[in-house]
Amino acid sequence: GSNHRMAGKRVVVTAGGTREPLDPVRYLTNHSSGKMGYAIAQAAQRAGADVTLIAANTVLPAPKGVKVVHIQTARELLKNVQAAFEAADVLIMAAAVADYRPAEVADQKIKKTAQNETMTLKLVRNPDILKTVGASKRPGQLVIGFAAETTDLITNAEKKVKSKHLDLIVANDVSNQKIGFNSDNNQVTFLFADGSQEKTPLESKPKVAEALIAIISQKL
Ligand code: PMT
Repeated sequence: GSNHRMAGKRVVVTAGGTREPLDPVRYLTNHSSGKMGYAIAQAAQRAGADVTLIAANTVLPAPKGVKVVHIQTARELLKNVQAAFEAADVLIMAAAVADYRPAEVADQKIKKTAQNETMTLKLVRNPDILKTVGASKRPGQLVIGFAAETTDLITNAEKKVKSKHLDLIVANDVSNQKIGFNSDNNQVTFLFADGSQEKTPLESKPKVAEALIAIISQKL
C-alpha cells in the first residue's frame, strides 16, 4: 500500500540484463526481463523514495514517478550506478550483469567462411559493479545485491554477501522457471550480513518487492 516510510530517501535500482556486443549485429546477454527490478523501483517510489532506475535493455513501461535511465553494457551500467549512488542512500542491484564480454568488438559483421567450421570467442572480465561501488560506501549507505543461482543457492549467496560487502542479498533460485528470469512470480531468501535468513512465500514480483522495501526501510 501507499505510505511514506522512505520519504526523502534516494534509492537507485538496476534492472534487466546487460548486452555485450560482438559486432554491429550480435551480442551476448541473459534472460532477464527487468520485471523484478521494475517492481522494486515502483515499491520504493510508493514508499515515498526518490527513485532512479537504471535499466539494461528492458521493454517494460516506466514505473510511475520513477526516473529511468537506459543503458546496454556492464561498463555503461557501472558508470551510471557510480554517478547515481554518489548522492543515494540505497543501491539495489537486481540487474543481471554479464561477468564477461567479447575481448574485441568487430567494426563490421563477422562473416562465416568455408574453412571455419568452428569459431572461438575470447572473453574478458567485466568490472564487478557491486564490489566497486561497495568499496566506496559511506556510513549509512545500504548496498543490496541479488544472487541468481542454479545450484547451492544459500551457500553461494552467503559467499556473495561477504565478498561484495553487502548489507543484504536476495537469493533467487533461477533453475526454477516459475520464480526466476522473466516469470511474473518469485520466491526468494533474504540473507543478511549477520547470517540471519528469511524465506518469502511464492508470490508476485510486486509482492516480493514490497517485502524487500519493507525490510530496507526498517534498516534506514
Ligand atoms: O529481470 P527478471 O526477468 O524479473 O528476473 C529477475 C532476476 C532473476 C534477474 C533477479 O531476480 C536476479 O536474480 N538478479 C541478479 C542476477 C545476477 O546477475 O546475479 P549474480 O548472482 O550473477 O550476481 C550477483 C550480484 O552481483 C547481483 O546483484 C548482480 O547485479 C551483481 N553483479 C554481477 C556481476 C557484475 N559484474 N557486477 C555486479 O554488480
